[in-house]
Amino acid sequence: MNHFLDIHKTDAAALRGIIDHAGAMKQARLGRPKGTPDDEQPLAGQMVALIFEKPSTRTRVSFDVGVRQMGGQTMVLSGNDMQLGHGETIADTARVLSRYVDLIMIRTFDESVLVEMAEYADVPVINGLTDRTHPCQIMADILTYEEHRGPIKGKKVVWTGDGNNVCASFLHAAAQFGFDLTFTGPSQLDPEDEFVGLARKAGCKVVIERDPVKAVTGADLVVADTWVSMHDSQSSKERRHNMLRPYQVNDALMAHAKDDALFMHCLPAHREEEVTSSVMDGPQSVIFDEAENRLHAQKAIMRWCLGV
Ligand code: CP
Ligand code: NVA
Repeated sequence: MNHFLDIHKTDAAALRGIIDHAGAMKQARLGRPKGTPDDEQPLAGQMVALIFEKPSTRTRVSFDVGVRQMGGQTMVLSGNDMQLGHGETIADTARVLSRYVDLIMIRTFDESVLVEMAEYADVPVINGLTDRTHPCQIMADILTYEEHRGPIKGKKVVWTGDGNNVCASFLHAAAQFGFDLTFTGPSQLDPEDEFVGLARKAGCKVVIERDPVKAVTGADLVVADTWVSMHDSQSSKERRHNMLRPYQVNDALMAHAKDDALFMHCLPAHREEEVTSSVMDGPQSVIFDEAENRLHAQKAIMRWCLGV
């Protein structure tokens, strides 16, 4: 069963195949209205459940549009409206859904929900973000980097701010795609040792650097994310902002990266907090290509999961 649960759980050759396939499918659609079907209809007759236990704009719309372009059908389900949110077990939910649909994408809080869903489902399960990781996002980010600058292998990626779920998937990707990752942020928000350890074990250079200027020096790619994630308590907001303010990505910080460095953010962004509008809307930013590439990357992920 080809579940897409995390980047480190997916074979490196398969990941490379997905990125290349995504790029080719994007090229094949160039200039075509968004609502028109792809020439190939590999998901014809297939039903995809998209389950959201947290808010979403990009993940929700890009999966839905992607399935339709490939000839399939979707149902978007809010976890709260399902019996899942009212005491039915994950295992029972997985077994029931498997009788109706061909593929399940779930965005949830605790990683254990995703893992259990995959364990009991008879159909592939895709991770649409948990508190710990966000693999679909990083697949889109790699596609975006390589479209603009060629192979990411050997490049220096700098993660700024909170060592959160998106940072974790970047560390998984460092190991699989062979790039170096520097984390710069306060020690209280370091990425988990497990993620750093996995990347280092795979031979990647992972640097933890408290000084954002030193960290960004020589960067090929600078990445920011929100300072308060969906799973973080709102009561921690002020404390987090105070810790993270020195790590804002602004023009002064970007000036230390390589001249051709790119800037990425998975969005949604909080302008003038983790990143200034001047950077987001500036010449080095590829944030909207990155958002678009969620669509293309996830189409290739779904095809890999379904073997079509
Ligand atoms: N980047 C991302 O996953 O966005 P959404 O929360 O809007 O899906
Ligand atoms: N780190 C953010 C990513 C949102 C796409 C969150 O989990 O809220």
